[in-house]
Amino acid sequence: MIVFNKIADLRSYLQQQTEDNKTTGFVPTMGALHEGHLSLVRRAKAENDLVVVSIFVNPIQFNNQDDLLKYPRTLDQDVAMLTSAGCDIVFAPEVNEMYPDKPKEHYDFGNLETVMEGHFRPGHFNGVAVVVKRLFEIVEPERAYFGEKDFQQLAIIRRMVEMENIQVQLVPCSIVREPDGLAMSSRNMRLDPKSRSLAPKIFAILLEGKKMSQQLSPKATEDWVLSQFESITEFTPEYFTISDAVTLQPIKQWEEGRSAIACIAIYLGGVRLIDNLMYRS
Ligand code: PAJ
Repeated sequence: MIVFNKIADLRSYLQQQTEDNKTTGFVPTMGALHEGHLSLVRRAKAENDLVVVSIFVNPIQFNNQDDLLKYPRTLDQDVAMLTSAGCDIVFAPEVNEMYPDKPKEHYDFGNLETVMEGHFRPGHFNGVAVVVKRLFEIVEPERAYFGEKDFQQLAIIRRMVEMENIQVQLVPCSIVREPDGLAMSSRNMRLDPKSRSLAPKIFAILLEGKKMSQQLSPKATEDWVLSQFESITEFTPEYFTISDAVTLQPIKQWEEGRSAIACIAIYLGGVRLIDNLMYRS
């Protein structure tokens, strides 16, 4: 496995490697890798000749400076994990390499970005779209792999690819969970032991909510789920919303043939966690 820090070096290596029609699968990440990321890498390996993983903590997608400063950085460990997962190429640029000048692009994602993460993290998805577009231009992959853990991010990237007319196949990958149900996340390592022991409640309550939703309206299900979290003082939910899984707009009633996704963002021990579960598919 080879690690590149410079765009020009990566590009010239990729040009040599892809001469004989080899396909490239790309997995963009911010590092602090875990099994969730590795599941994307393994899938990319199974479906392509070459696998490129980027590791870049993208400052322009953090709307909270403290979150950016505290974001875990474990490059040596990441490189070791990627070697054993079969990754061929790592791209780990410095901030100046990706952004020699302040990026000026401004995307309008309409009401896809006015809800959930987009509502509570202003500017976040613009930063995501800017970096992913640049990475796609650098790597020029046939396929790119994204986790459904970041459900709204996937919808935003789909829209960006459409708007920019980029030739890439986006491959959604299911959420990988710890044995106790907690969705894997780089932020989990910031949970103190007490918070870590409570964290599996997030998925457990999402699952119970799904059961309750068989008898309740979407709004009543939302209220029920929120009341469950509010009864545990350590949890501070930011939102819990049941939305149309395509438009991401909140729904008022269940409809035959319309899939519905339940998404949550919640603070636990000072760490912001997100998770989601399909309530109707
Ligand atoms: P990061 O949070 O590092 O996630 C990289 C990719 O791994 C994303 O597609 C994310 O959805 C996926 N992922 C994370 N946890 C997962 C899990 N438990 N199961 C399955 N997939 C999981 O998402 C980002 O980085 C950034 O926003 C990025 C797209 C790299 C742009 O900076």
